[in-house]
Amino acid sequence: MKLAPCFAGADVLVLALPRGGVPVAFEIAKALHAPLDISLVRKLGVPGQEELAMGAVAAGNIGVLDQAVIRALAISEADVDRVTRKELHELSILEGLYRGRLPKREVRDRSVILVDDGLATGASMRAASLALKQQRPARIAAAVPVVAGPRVAVAAGQEVPVYGPGKVPIELSVNGQTYKTDLEPRVTLLDALRDSFDITGAKRVCDRGECGACTVLLGSKPVYACSILAIEAQGKKITTVESLMQGGRLHPLQQAFVDNDGSQCGFCTPGFVMACKALLDEHPNPSPDDLRRGLSGNFCRCGTYAGIRAAIAQVAQKGA
Ligand code: FES
Ligand code: FES
Repeated sequence: MKLAPCFAGADVLVLALPRGGVPVAFEIAKALHAPLDISLVRKLGVPGQEELAMGAVAAGNIGVLDQAVIRALAISEADVDRVTRKELHELSILEGLYRGRLPKREVRDRSVILVDDGLATGASMRAASLALKQQRPARIAAAVPVVAGPRVAVAAGQEVPVYGPGKVPIELSVNGQTYKTDLEPRVTLLDALRDSFDITGAKRVCDRGECGACTVLLGSKPVYACSILAIEAQGKKITTVESLMQGGRLHPLQQAFVDNDGSQCGFCTPGFVMACKALLDEHPNPSPDDLRRGLSGNFCRCGTYAGIRAAIAQVAQKGA
């Protein structure tokens, strides 16, 4: 990737395709000293096989359809229509969520770099480019990260190490013990814990950073283990729910969950316990506002929130 010389002296704007394109675009914008914004697109998933794309839509009612996929899978016009309308609606909601009240960056006559985290069918990138063209930029460049053959690639003029795509040695510090193995760089911390080290307290539910069932502590911070790569967690202290019980006795927070019916099916519980631990470590007597913020990243489908709040109150009074 040698973007810097291509855009020397140009008025550059970097646009990320969320979510995957954002961290990549952030690095590019930083390296080029260019402003960063987003370009929203939605994949049109094949009905019943949503991981497959039959096209994409972008703001401004832009649609790109992959006719080869539609023909091969005999997808009806009605289905294409239904999915397109649904995704355009989603797009309008997301636009508000991502941008809030911030105005869009001016695109006209600027050099725009569209960034995604990879290209599969290319439909998302094509939809984003078509939407962008309507705003008359001077030129559009599409950028995606590549895994190069050599161990070092050049990014914006600087050499950066390349990890993978094969397995690389990984060393994690979990609950005070060191765990070593070889993993592909794409493996999440959650998968490494559960599948490689048999530390299964953190649960895989949504696997996309939405439910909190996989919450562990990285240092003192609660994080979604499903949304962090194992290689990123190296050199940091990882604490999972397994560390809480000592000498056969439940941690006071775990006991408080039992005493106050803070769990039902229990699937969210390890994540909630870790989120509560992080909250109480930081705020031993949390205010209602601390509680709201501290637990806002965890969902309980059984609705045990009242019990969880009572458990926190019990520990806050007695101390952990
Ligand atoms: S499994 Fe990680 S947030 Fe849901
Ligand atoms: S106890 Fe069932 S999801 Fe929370």
